[in-house]
Amino acid sequence: MSLLDVHELTSGHGDVPAVHDVSLRVEAGEMVALLGANGAGKTTILHTVAGLLPTMSGQVSLDGTTISGLASHKISRLGLSLLPQDRGIFFQLTVAENLRLHQRSDASVQVDDIVRYFPALANLMSRKAGLLSGGEQQMLALGCRIIAGPRLLLIDEMSLGLAPIIFKRMLPVLSQISSEKQIGVLLVEQHVHLALKASDRAYVLNRGRITFDGAAHELAARPEFLESSYLGGSAG
Ligand SMILES: Nc1ncnc2c1ncn2[C@@H]1O[C@H](COP(=O)(O)OP(=O)(O)OP(=O)(O)O)[C@@H](O)[C@H]1O
Ligand SMILES: [Mg+2]
Repeated sequence: MSLLDVHELTSGHGDVPAVHDVSLRVEAGEMVALLGANGAGKTTILHTVAGLLPTMSGQVSLDGTTISGLASHKISRLGLSLLPQDRGIFFQLTVAENLRLHQRSDASVQVDDIVRYFPALANLMSRKAGLLSGGEQQMLALGCRIIAGPRLLLIDEMSLGLAPIIFKRMLPVLSQISSEKQIGVLLVEQHVHLALKASDRAYVLNRGRITFDGAAHELAARPEFLESSYLGGSAG
């Protein structure tokens, strides 16, 4: 039994399906990349898994419990956390307040743990989140998810608005957190090669359908296939 098991999922917006018969899995402590061109359906998959979009057909389960059809707050209580494209932090609150707001009631992950992963936040605890740089906001956004003690983290384009060098530094930290805390990570990312370097396995989505399912290093070794996927061509 996998931590996340997506079985033949079809979903979309209104009556129009955007992803078709998608099956994928994520194990505890594993980083899995979900790649594909703009409009391929990556965000649709993350939002459906998190309960923000309805499932048209198929099934999603977390650690053996069916979560498709549950409200998003119930899914989040079961240990699934989504880091959205817009980061989802409160700009008017300080860094420390944002972190405390997300901390689990049993405080199994402490603010000190987050500072250990992201030392840049140490001196910014009393600063309002809206006054942080883009990279600092992204560290805080990730810190807010980690301090909530999730079992599965869905990340939608962590690199958005970040200097490539900052993103490059954050990926190994994410990978360390994933294995230390045994969190499964499903990583949607446009920086394909950096994502593949940090991930164990990968899926490619082309026009709403999975066209690759395998080891990240296998996919990295197929640049022509990747290129055709991003140009929206037929995957071969
Ligand atoms: N709110 C919406 N209403 C209707 N159609 C939508 C909506 N959001 C997305 N779509 C459509 O669903 C399809 C998949 O979009 P989705 O946002 O999942 O793609 P994506 O892979 O995340 O792309 P990107 O890399 O640009 O973020 C696209 O054809 C898109 O136009
Ligand atoms: Mg998207």
